[in-house]
Amino acid sequence: MPLTIRPAGPDDETRVVALWRACDLVTSYNDPGADFRFAIAGACSAVLIGEDETRRIGGSVMVGHDGHRGWLYYVAAAPHARGSGIGRLMVQAAEHWLRQCGVLKAQLLVRETNTGVVAFYEHLGFETAPRVVMSKWLHEPA
Ligand SMILES: CC(C)(COP(=O)(O)OP(=O)(O)OC[C@H]1O[C@@H](n2cnc3c(N)ncnc32)[C@H](O)[C@@H]1OP(=O)(O)O)[C@@H](O)C(=O)NCCC(=O)NCCS
Repeated sequence: MPLTIRPAGPDDETRVVALWRACDLVTSYNDPGADFRFAIAGACSAVLIGEDETRRIGGSVMVGHDGHRGWLYYVAAAPHARGSGIGRLMVQAAEHWLRQCGVLKAQLLVRETNTGVVAFYEHLGFETAPRVVMSKWLHEPA
């Protein structure tokens, strides 16, 4: 299925968030609409989408860098089109985007409930990094 890759714009939010929900990528602690808007507005981030000739969105990846490493989020292939190369295409698009920014290393996080996807990333050349990832919420408690 040939897809055209382009950066998402504000008008794409509803369809992209629907894809993320269909791919079970939305968690209770993330607001996907806010994530989308923040990423497309950033100078160092984007949401790339793959559309077919009917403008149906088949895949997505949120990509950005922090001035050092590149990060991938919301890697998604539409459920009806899995196994046809969309996931690979979206990861490669993110890698290309990062290379254009001069970033040398791409990283991503896999939720512990989604470890089945690790083999997909290994297939694309990623390896598990022996690091402890630490995090802290910076917003005030509700
Ligand atoms: C993970 C995901 C993006 C893969 O998309 P996809 O379009 O089905 O994958 P592709 O068809 O591009 O697969 C590329 C290659 O990886 C392989 N592959 C795909 N999923 C795999 C898996 N779970 N384990 C091992 N290999 C896998 C394919 O066989 C293919 O190999 P080939 O090129 O040698 O034929 C898709 O399953 C998805 O959207 N999952 C739900 C969302 C998610 O979990 N995203 C990751 C968050 S960290």
